[in-house]
Amino acid sequence: MISTVEEYRATFDGEPGYLNWAAFGPLSSTVRDEVVADLGMLGTGRASSISHVEEREDEARQAVGDVLGLPADTVTLQPSTTYGIMHAVYGLTGGVLASPAEFPTIPTAVTRAAEAFGRVRPQWLETEGGFVTPQAVADAIDDDTTALVVSHVDFRTGYRADLAGLREALGPDRLLIVDATQGVGVLEGDWDAADVVAGHGYKWLRAGRGTGFATFNAHAREMIAPVLSGFFGVEGGLTVDEVPAPAAGARAFTIARGDALAAARLAIALSDVAAVGVSAIEEALTERTERVIEIAQRHDIRVLTPLDPARRGGIVSLVPDSVAALGAELANRGVTVTARSGMVRVAPHVGTDDETLGLLDEACAAYAQQR
Ligand SMILES: Cc1ncc(COP(=O)(O)O)c(C=O)c1O
Repeated sequence: MISTVEEYRATFDGEPGYLNWAAFGPLSSTVRDEVVADLGMLGTGRASSISHVEEREDEARQAVGDVLGLPADTVTLQPSTTYGIMHAVYGLTGGVLASPAEFPTIPTAVTRAAEAFGRVRPQWLETEGGFVTPQAVADAIDDDTTALVVSHVDFRTGYRADLAGLREALGPDRLLIVDATQGVGVLEGDWDAADVVAGHGYKWLRAGRGTGFATFNAHAREMIAPVLSGFFGVEGGLTVDEVPAPAAGARAFTIARGDALAAARLAIALSDVAAVGVSAIEEALTERTERVIEIAQRHDIRVLTPLDPARRGGIVSLVPDSVAALGAELANRGVTVTARSGMVRVAPHVGTDDETLGLLDEACAAYAQQR
């Protein structure tokens, strides 16, 4: 069992050059080592072994609750973030605030919900630079507004939303629905300011795909109709020959049983995070992102992400004059980033080593020299 940032860092054993944690997180050695036992148990044909692995689902829900500081009975497991957001958004009625510049999970759910049921009225936020600030929300709210859907950290700009400020702007009655994909496990958040928190384990948690989750507090369960609820979203197990009402609790926002091995990976990854502590992880990650910012600025490459650590997470978005030229210098040195929409998104993690940052520095220097 690990407990220090140093030990946590040792669970990163990928090759140097990887700066794309905001897209996909290479799996941690703990996850890879520990899930093998579960895999074996599912091969035995022993009922006790199979149910032992299925218990990972409860363990994962508990672990999500622990890391977010929310009660485990508000947590549901989902195939991915998008499923959780869809459960939340499809069941809304009224005006729903969201920035059209968010990761497609949010604008697509809001648009499809409006088209399918006619109960949701999209209220597209006008933001400066795509930053969903409390002021932008306060300016857009009207009497019909029932919810805001927002990313904790924006996938493109790296802007970290002020959840407590957004709650204040919304007031106590409107729902705050948060896509925590780009922050969970590496950043502290005012998660209890939110009514729904959806996320997944395949980026910063390094648990692989299939590891989504979504929380629904009592207010969310009151205000959101579980329109996508499936046979698994009822109380008391499998019911045949009749269709019971959706469960009163968060479970209503589930469809069918998930993958216990995915739950196992999520639980294992979260137990490492809980053991080290999110605040220690955030501190170590901030040091790495500061290095990235320093490198970019030294080579006169504009940084789009806010410099204030409270308003950013693990993403540092750069706006070079030529994305293609910087992208080529990075690719030539085996540095993996995301280059699109006029930006180069650099996303280190706590385990990013100095060699990797050295490669970034060299690529930026070569790019700067060409200009
Ligand atoms: C902010 C954000 N939300 C949602 C997603 C997609 O999540 P999932 O694949 O778990 O549905 C991503 C993926 O990049 C993302 O960055």
